[in-house]
Amino acid sequence: MSANPQARRILSGIRPTGPLHLGNYHGALRNWVELQYQYECYFFIADWHMLTTGYEDTSALPDNIRTVLIDFLAAGLNPGVATLFVQSHVPEHAELHLLLSMITPLGWLERVPTYKDQQEQLKERDLATYGFLGYPLLQSADILIYRATYVPVGEDQVSHVEITREIARRFNHLYGREPDFETKAELAVKNLGGRNSTNYRQLRRKYQESGDADSLERARALVQGNNRITVADKERLLGYLEGSGVTILPEPQVLLTATPKVPGLDGRKMSKSYGNTIGLREDPDVVAAKMRTMQTDPARVRRTDPGNPDICPVFDLHKIYSDDNTRAWAAEGCRTAGIGCLDCKKPLIEKVVEEISGMRKRAQEFEDSPELLRNIVTEGADKAREAARATLDEVRRAMHLRAD
Ligand code: TRP
Ligand code: SF4
Repeated sequence: MSANPQARRILSGIRPTGPLHLGNYHGALRNWVELQYQYECYFFIADWHMLTTGYEDTSALPDNIRTVLIDFLAAGLNPGVATLFVQSHVPEHAELHLLLSMITPLGWLERVPTYKDQQEQLKERDLATYGFLGYPLLQSADILIYRATYVPVGEDQVSHVEITREIARRFNHLYGREPDFETKAELAVKNLGGRNSTNYRQLRRKYQESGDADSLERARALVQGNNRITVADKERLLGYLEGSGVTILPEPQVLLTATPKVPGLDGRKMSKSYGNTIGLREDPDVVAAKMRTMQTDPARVRRTDPGNPDICPVFDLHKIYSDDNTRAWAAEGCRTAGIGCLDCKKPLIEKVVEEISGMRKRAQEFEDSPELLRNIVTEGADKAREAARATLDEVRRAMHLRAD
């Protein structure tokens, strides 16, 4: 593993559809908060993505963006560590999207499973638009413009990362060829300098002779970590490792993390579209009241009826929030009708309220200061744009367009 964070970038985004909820927190944000201390992270609010399905009424967008940004901060994302920004503040995404659209076969987009699925699910909206068809490609641009190594997303987004890999491969294939690639690559190896050149050669040989993945990994880290060579040389060296040509857009990988099942109040998966959510910063009294009415095992009609925690959504929450003892107490009490459902929920309500109260407290300073928020997004956009421009420059150059 490389100690150099440059070599390992993380990117992920979320649509600003409204206040985030505990499902978003345990399904994504909590993980992002940890990742920010291990990698160079870019997390953004995907307002353009929101438009691909919600173009008709955009009036709530500014409020939703602000809310999600505060949710980010309340959840523990740290703008001093991770780059937090709003997609539309970095128009470079759009230019890359446009350029990639030239090389993207229609069939690839039509075959993305979410294309037909979403059209089915959102029947009331007209999604036979150009923007909606191109939405996975916009996502590809989001990812590729930062040359992200890993993309932490849920199962539902895996196909989008997959098409991103295909696009990257196609792009590199079309534009990653230089007539004198070998010569330039050999020169780049020399530019690495002394021991690094020797190490690179050895690792490359080992990888090419035996397909040793570890050698490939180490050689990549060696290249990424070298600050004396130019970006163009870096790309040559990365491409040279696998023998192909210049790797202008590296292929990202999905970072699938084990996330708990977060049930909503009605027992289905917690989701805004089901209206069964507990907001990240909702009023604690409202949250407690909602949880008291939360769906339990329907077999427990009377207090004396035993239940089955394995099929009870409340017990899924115990798996997230409770320690072993409490969980054992709840399971046992449920099966023997030793406790009632309200008893079972009590420690849970305490935990959730505690968590939410912490979020509300952290959010306070940001809610009080629009200026602070503004500074955070401005700085985030500046940092993101710098990284985005570096890639876009290479892309333009490779396509024989004007580069800055
Ligand atoms: N499509 C994602 C969603 O709907 C959001 C998103 C947009 C995203 N661009 C991204 C996620 C890039 C990861 C990487 O949830
Ligand atoms: Fe669910 Fe707890 Fe009630 Fe059992 S006692 S049905 S686990 S809420």
